[in-house]
Amino acid sequence: MEVVIVSSEVAPFSKTGGLGDVTAALSSALHRAGHRVMTVSPRYGVTPLDGLKDSGHVARAYLGTSEQTAKLLVHTAKGPTHVLVEHPMFADRAGIYGDQNGSFGDNHIRFALLQRAGLEAARRIPVGRKTLGESPIFHVHDWQTASLPVYLDQVYRPLGFFRDSPVVLTLHNPAHQGRLPAKMFDDLDLPQRWFSPHGLEWHGDLALLKCGVLRADQLTTVSPTFAWEITTAAGGFGLDVLFRGRFAELTGILNGIDTTEWDPTSDPHLDAPFSAGDPTGKATCKAGLQAELGLPMEKSRPLVGSVGRIDPQKGTELLIDSIPWLVDQGAQVVVLGSAHAAHQKLEWRLREMEDAYPDRVRAWIGFDERIAHRIEAAADIFAMPSLFEPCGLNQMYSMRYGAVPVVRATGGLADSVQDGVTGFSFVEPTGFAFRGALHRALKQFAADGLAAMRAEGMSRDFGWDAVVPEYEAVYAAAVEGRARLLRA
Ligand code: ADP
Ligand code: GLC
Repeated sequence: MEVVIVSSEVAPFSKTGGLGDVTAALSSALHRAGHRVMTVSPRYGVTPLDGLKDSGHVARAYLGTSEQTAKLLVHTAKGPTHVLVEHPMFADRAGIYGDQNGSFGDNHIRFALLQRAGLEAARRIPVGRKTLGESPIFHVHDWQTASLPVYLDQVYRPLGFFRDSPVVLTLHNPAHQGRLPAKMFDDLDLPQRWFSPHGLEWHGDLALLKCGVLRADQLTTVSPTFAWEITTAAGGFGLDVLFRGRFAELTGILNGIDTTEWDPTSDPHLDAPFSAGDPTGKATCKAGLQAELGLPMEKSRPLVGSVGRIDPQKGTELLIDSIPWLVDQGAQVVVLGSAHAAHQKLEWRLREMEDAYPDRVRAWIGFDERIAHRIEAAADIFAMPSLFEPCGLNQMYSMRYGAVPVVRATGGLADSVQDGVTGFSFVEPTGFAFRGALHRALKQFAADGLAAMRAEGMSRDFGWDAVVPEYEAVYAAAVEGRARLLRA
């Protein structure tokens, strides 16, 4: 198959969370399985420049108040063909979606340019010796690229391009919908008819994700449980009626993890390697992190770790509220996270915890891959009390690194952690329920150091290769659906 992944994040070029990991790993896994794959994402200010070359091609689009021209760069490594879109709207900014003042006001314009560039790259840029031809599958992700079907219909198909190409939209986080004031539609240079319930309008607003939910040929989300949750009023973020309407074309596929980057037997960030068969190095990793963070190097104290965006989604408040209790139960707590401008208060509360319990609590504020790896390796218990979680990657990293996850049974957490076998889960989103699950974990730690559960979790396979056939089936259904539509 020929697949074009258009996404606002592809690691290592860009990543603020799981989206970047997933588009990178999926494109590699598809490539390994023999498909011809291109990714198209922006070259941001943070994107490393090594290996990027000008392809000689550009994408042009009239957006905002003038014509924008973006250069299409290609990354020259082996594997899938990575195209990076070069434009000052991406490159000359401090952040990916926003900065300390909040989200950028022109994100709808920036990502319209990305989508136009994605279509142009698919036409022009070779993958191997030739381009992807007339009917590649477009695989788009979240609100940033969800309106690509409109640009296909409005700009490319009338010229005879990509008539048979279907679009697959993956929902990583439908809490973010690109729902904006109606007047921003004028910046997109689209005929007024697209501002309608069948296109980009929803309750009088510009609604970028909603457009893709209606117009993509197939929808996927990143776990089976979440696919069901979003069809309910409680879990649908206001779009549940649309998800119910498209249930026949909605598939939940649990993400994999990159088992090369996250491998405790060869991870360069760790003080010692370890494995399910020989877990002794994990104690060295724990001592190493305690030393680095200036915590007492106490072997027998349970170390509870957490890594993730500081955000209400992640249940950060439940975690913060439970820290005094965890300390009282004898635990050390290490939290790594960074917050969007809107959630800075949670960051301050974490710092207050660190001040209140200097021998027991560390809050590392910022985005730091190395510390993320070191926490997974050092932790006995990993806390992930998310209020909702489409998939979640850290609980899978945790199991692989022998940190027993304590999770809320929601979305991908429910699908990947087996209560009492590979981790502990709780249902009600309350501190009481969370502490109940933590209590069970601490009790098991006191009994056998969590050795049996750790071994169980470490033996699970969360690699991507097993996931590929599920995407292949969705791509095939999308091709078939598009063909049926054209025949009708
Ligand atoms: P989400 O995409 O909702 O943020 P996921 O669990 O799917 O959640 O993915 C988060 C990814 O981002 C993981 O790879 C995690 O290790 C990483 N991550 C999140 N916050 C940080 C941070 N502060 N420092 C380093 N890595 C982080
Ligand atoms: C989103 C979700 C997370 C998921 C990730 C990758 O950011 O919040 O649960 O793992 O996307 O699909």
